[in-house]
Amino acid sequence: MLVAREQAIAETEAPPIAAAARSALHRLRLSDFRCYRTLALDLSGRTVVLTGPNGAGKTNILEALSYLSPGRGLRRARLRDVLRAGAPGAWSVAARLAGPDGAVDLGTGMTVTEQGGDRRTARIDGQTAAPAALAGTLGLQWLTPQMDRLFIDGPSSRRRFLDRLVLAFDPDHGRRVGAYERAMRERARLLRDGNGDDAWLSALEARMTADGIAVAAARREAVARLQRYLTEARGDFPRAELTVAGTLEADLAEAPAVEVEGRFADCLRANRRRDGEAGGTAEGPHRTDLLVRHAGKDLPAEQCSTGEQKALLIALTLANARAEAERRGAPPLLLLDEVVAHLDARRRAALFEEVQALGGQAWLSGTDRAVFEPLAGSAQFIAVRDGQAGLEE
Ligand SMILES: Nc1ncnc2c1ncn2[C@@H]1O[C@H](COP(=O)(O)OP(=O)(O)OP(=O)(O)O)[C@@H](O)[C@H]1O
Ligand SMILES: [Mg+2]
Repeated sequence: MLVAREQAIAETEAPPIAAAARSALHRLRLSDFRCYRTLALDLSGRTVVLTGPNGAGKTNILEALSYLSPGRGLRRARLRDVLRAGAPGAWSVAARLAGPDGAVDLGTGMTVTEQGGDRRTARIDGQTAAPAALAGTLGLQWLTPQMDRLFIDGPSSRRRFLDRLVLAFDPDHGRRVGAYERAMRERARLLRDGNGDDAWLSALEARMTADGIAVAAARREAVARLQRYLTEARGDFPRAELTVAGTLEADLAEAPAVEVEGRFADCLRANRRRDGEAGGTAEGPHRTDLLVRHAGKDLPAEQCSTGEQKALLIALTLANARAEAERRGAPPLLLLDEVVAHLDARRRAALFEEVQALGGQAWLSGTDRAVFEPLAGSAQFIAVRDGQAGLEE
C-alpha cells in the first residue's frame, strides 16, 4: 500500500510541453545499441533515407531514435534485449536537435541499478531528467511494419496507438493511463483475494474515476482534432473516419464530466462482486477501441486491402504530424520504417511530397535504394551494412 501511495505522489509531477521549434536531428551517437557497438552520424536537417540489405541495422537506428521519446520504443522491447549481444553494462543513445530556437542535447539509455535491475534514464542538455520529459523537447511519430496489423489485431494495440496520438499533445496522458491501470490492477487483486476494505477500495476507485475520465476526455479531444486534419487533407491518401468506442468516451458525448464521473464511480462500486468473481474490471477506458473507416469506400478499415490499410495508416500518421506541427510550431521527427516499398509509384510520389511539405526531418528506410530516387538532391542517403552506417558521398 505504501509503495502504491509513494508512486502516486511521485507521479503527480507532469512535464511541461516546451513549444520549442527544434525538430531536426543533427547528430546521433549510439553505443552498444542492438547491432551497433558504436555509431556516429552527423547530419543536416533534411530528410534521411536509410538503405541496406535485410538485417543490416536500419530498423535498429529508427528504434534508437524512438527512445528519444517516453515509452518503450518502437519495438516495445525489454531494455536488456536492446543491449548489444555480448556487451557488458548498458546502452545509450545521444542526439543533438537543432532548429530556429537553438540546439538541445538529448540522451537516453539503460542503466543497471544496484539491485541488478535495469532502468531507463534520460538527460536533457546534460541534466538528468525523467524519460517523460523528453516529450516536451521533441515530437516523434513512427510507422513500422509491425503496425500493419493494427486494424486486424485486438483493440489493445489500437488503444495504444490512440494513446500515443494523445501523448503528442498531452504529455501527462501516459502518466494518467498508467495510474488508472495500476489502480485497476490493485483493485482487481483486492477483490480477487477478498480482503479489500471498503475505504481502500473506494480510494482506488476514486483514482480510477478521476484518471479514467481525464483519459477518456483526452482521447475524445485527440480524435476530434485528428479528424479535422484528416478531413482537410487533400492528395492521394484515403480519408479516414475515426470513432472512439468506449463507455466513458460515449457518456462524455452526452453528459458533463462530473456526471459521467459519478456514474463511473457508482458502476465500479456496484460491480465489485462481479469483478471479483470474473477477476477483472468489466467496464472502463481500459477497454476503449479506436474504430477507423475508409470514407471513400465506406468500409471499416479491417475490410480494406493490405495496401489500402497501409494508406489509411499513413494518412493517420501524416494528419497527426500536421496537427503536432501546428501545435508545437515545429513538425515532429517522423520515422517511417519500410513504408515506401508497399506503395505504388503514384502514392510514393504523394508520400514524398507530403513529407517535404511537412518540412520536418523524416527518416525513411528500405532495402531498395531505387524507390527513393525521387528524393535524390533533397534528402541525405545513408548506407547501412553489417551494423555500420555512413552518409553516402
Ligand atoms: N541485442 C542485439 N545485439 C546484437 N544484434 C542484434 C540485437 N538485436 C537485434 N540484433 C541484430 O541487428 C541486426 C539488424 O536488425 P534490423 O532490424 O535493424 O535490420 P534491418 O536493416 O531493419 O533489416 P530488414 O530489412 O530485414 O528489416 C539483425 O541481424 C538483428 O539480429
Ligand atoms: Mg527493418
